[in-house]
Amino acid sequence: MVKVITYGTYDLLHYGHIRLLERAKALGDYLIVGVTAEDFDKVRGKINVQQSLMERVEAVRSTGIADEIIIEEYEGQKLDDIKRYNVDIFTVGSDWIGHFDYLKEFCKVIYLPRTEGVSSSGLRSKRRSLCLGLVGETEFLNKVAQECDCVNGIHVGGICAKSTAFMNAAMKELPVITDNYEELVEKADAIYLRSQPAEHYSQIQFALEKGRHVLCESPVVPDRKKYRELQELAEEKGVILMEAIKTAYATAYSRLLLLLKEGKIGEIVSVDATCTSIKSIEGSLQWDGIYEWGPTALLPVFQILGTNYTEKTVVMKYQDEERKHDGFVKIDFVYPKAVADIKIGNSVKSEGELIVSGTEGYLYVPAPWWKTDYFEIRYEDRSKNKRYFYQLDGEGIRYELVAFARAAEKGRDIAANIDHEVTECIAGVMEDIQSGRAVRYI
Ligand code: CTP
Repeated sequence: MVKVITYGTYDLLHYGHIRLLERAKALGDYLIVGVTAEDFDKVRGKINVQQSLMERVEAVRSTGIADEIIIEEYEGQKLDDIKRYNVDIFTVGSDWIGHFDYLKEFCKVIYLPRTEGVSSSGLRSKRRSLCLGLVGETEFLNKVAQECDCVNGIHVGGICAKSTAFMNAAMKELPVITDNYEELVEKADAIYLRSQPAEHYSQIQFALEKGRHVLCESPVVPDRKKYRELQELAEEKGVILMEAIKTAYATAYSRLLLLLKEGKIGEIVSVDATCTSIKSIEGSLQWDGIYEWGPTALLPVFQILGTNYTEKTVVMKYQDEERKHDGFVKIDFVYPKAVADIKIGNSVKSEGELIVSGTEGYLYVPAPWWKTDYFEIRYEDRSKNKRYFYQLDGEGIRYELVAFARAAEKGRDIAANIDHEVTECIAGVMEDIQSGRAVRYI
């Protein structure tokens, strides 16, 4: 029996794929098709894949051409598969000519002519692209716009800001540059808010009323009830309201959550997260430390230990005599069987690490943990320690935009990495701090 193997992403399965599969099958008696997993595609730089791995596997299965379907998950797997499955022929399209010649030592390598005029990328770019309007006054928006260029299905159509000083050259070329928020909402399908948190409520409400999707930098609103109200409005209007915290979309961060859920360090007893930076308080555009860092630091606490804490103590130190700007905030949480501690600061510098302690070991993410591509799980017996590395592209913003574009397309925030419950709990902590409830000042 002649065994043939071929690999691909097979996103939005098209006749180029089907013709390739038919010809691959005709080369032998048994065809194995390797479908590339999302993470491996990301590492290869293919981040715009529209369909999930399961959808793509199902599409290949439904052609009835493959005798066996496997998942391609890592670099170097092709050679492993060829040996494991005793493969006689490796084949792919002619766009890969020469690329897999190194496999000739192990099996026959055949490059089949690629079908002209059709590709997944072509199909993806024909799909309707979401026109995104940016709102805010910070250089961070240049980054967001840049990341949008890497994501199919979303493009920046304009920006609303009072000044153009922070805009890079590409931003200054946008078709709509206005200081009138209503005008921007009118012209966009979706809004990305990086405005002052105090403005969020009315801006979100206006956009949702107009049927626009909203991706809002956290805190969405520093008020539990108002957040619930806005989420209900989004549902009523059939649009998406999503909280933006880029760390939630960093691959390493999502993987560490899964490993913790799997019980890799036993029962979790403590979560400690620190996020600090020293910034001047000059100018009114700066976010207070609690807004700038609070949501990011709170994220692992609520995602790991849940939102049902029993006690919370907040200690705050102002950075100015007028007590207008917070400089350092420490929050302690008590849960029935665990504790958490976050330290954040705009005028204090500390080691920005994340440590999760468990009954069998601990997870350590070195600074800056919120932009992480690496972490370790450490045990009493050091020989069992494990290190994990995952590529981080665009600080997580890129994957956040992919998730937002998918959610907007499907009308459900199924791809979001932050549950509404967590967003609401973050809003609640912000609300308590703003009102001074249970806050001690030093
Ligand atoms: N293929 C082909 N003819 C096409 C498109 C793809 O023969 N018009 C082949 C590729 O050479 C590969 C397999 O189909 O062997 C799977 O390709 P994949 O990368 O999934 O599809 P593309 O359409 O090339 O995707 P993209 O545009 O994202 O690169």
